[in-house]
Amino acid sequence: MSEKSQFASKIGLIAATVGSAVGLGNVWRFPAEAQSNGGAAFLLLYIICVFVLGIPVMLAEFSLGRASRSDAIGAFKVLSPGKPWWCVGALAVLASFLILCYYMVVAGWTLEYLVESIGTGLYSHLDEAGGSSLHGIFAAKMQEYVATDAKPLLFTYAMIAINIVVLLGGVSKGIERLSNILMPVLFVILVLLCGVCLSLPGASAGVSYFLEPDFSKITPGVIVNALGQAFFSLSLGMGILITYASYYPSHTPLTRTSVIVSLLSLLVAVLMGLIIFPAVTAFGLDKEPLQGATLVFVTLPEVFANLPWPRLWSSLFFLLLFVAALTSTVSIAEVSVAMLQDRLRFSRRKAVLCVMLPLFVLSALCSLSFGSMSDFKLLGMTIFDLLDTFTTDILLPVVSIGVCVYVGWFAKNKLLSEQLSNAGTLKARHTAVTMNIIRYAAPALIALVLIYNYL
Ligand code: PFF
Repeated sequence: MSEKSQFASKIGLIAATVGSAVGLGNVWRFPAEAQSNGGAAFLLLYIICVFVLGIPVMLAEFSLGRASRSDAIGAFKVLSPGKPWWCVGALAVLASFLILCYYMVVAGWTLEYLVESIGTGLYSHLDEAGGSSLHGIFAAKMQEYVATDAKPLLFTYAMIAINIVVLLGGVSKGIERLSNILMPVLFVILVLLCGVCLSLPGASAGVSYFLEPDFSKITPGVIVNALGQAFFSLSLGMGILITYASYYPSHTPLTRTSVIVSLLSLLVAVLMGLIIFPAVTAFGLDKEPLQGATLVFVTLPEVFANLPWPRLWSSLFFLLLFVAALTSTVSIAEVSVAMLQDRLRFSRRKAVLCVMLPLFVLSALCSLSFGSMSDFKLLGMTIFDLLDTFTTDILLPVVSIGVCVYVGWFAKNKLLSEQLSNAGTLKARHTAVTMNIIRYAAPALIALVLIYNYL
């Protein structure tokens, strides 16, 4: 077998892990969830979930990956040979691949909106609209860009092709190099857009909605959503962190890495809130319900159309979304690629092609779920919705519980302490607390979420 790949630098491994964590979950799902779940109250719960539960579970995944230096399935096989724990890893690989199928489609939309913003597409014919509102125009454009067959499919394919090129480059020359370039770009754009939106007249009402908590808004449902959001946005339960940690050098401090990654992921979510809430209140668009896709593909173009240089802001915003989506799709594809390389001894090239080529069919089915296959339903859902629901509501919590139960109760006693202290070379005073969360609090609460979703 070829030598195990590693990230080449400290900054690079953080950039790659942050690149995975910062995805559409932070830039789009978070503001929409926050808007419908009480703004600041949701933000507060989300922060608590990230620090109290998210970081310990992240450390459990990191420990599995780095101790075994293997893929998500191999990690359990190496650490507990002959035991059925590898099934948890197999579920993680399954979850990650199914997520990849539909996430690639949404990633394709971000590329499509970027191209349509740079060209004149998205902002053409606005003055000829006559009586119809800007909202109506952008809703019609979204229909065209998302809910027809050919265009969105083309951009999904383009996104798959870009992923193939990056993945063929390998861990340090492909994924790490891409993240090193794109992550700083993402932060610069975020700060710039934040400055623009915060300086709009009337922005302060949006800021107060987002930052002043109203505790009466906290209900069990809001808590469940905050926990789900924290886990999704930290990329937990997908095998990604096991896989990436298997590329971490043995001197990487895992706790510090997990805190930096979580803080940066949180920062992106908060900055997104500071872009979206002021922008929508400034233009009185907060009266409309801000739902996931409509928020970024209809409401925000409406905001940009009201600003000077709409195409500039729109291009920057969709570049941000595209970067977030690309670094996340690459990380989730890597779970299956690493699995094929480690389990079946495939060459990198063969592994990448075996994972990515089927997407030309599977992601196409997800893309057509919005077009000519929108009436094709299984269990009452389109293929896209079915994959989304099955993975986020069932597979991700099940994998996270499996990881916690394994690391907390069944793995070698010292697994966590050895990994957090880098075999005794670092002080890791928080190990006992982390272990207790992994053993009791995290699996119990995730199980409650799982049950709550089905009550
Ligand atoms: N943390 C990622 C996000 O917030 O979007 C989770 C993720 C989803 C990673 C899908 C990768 C992916 F393909």
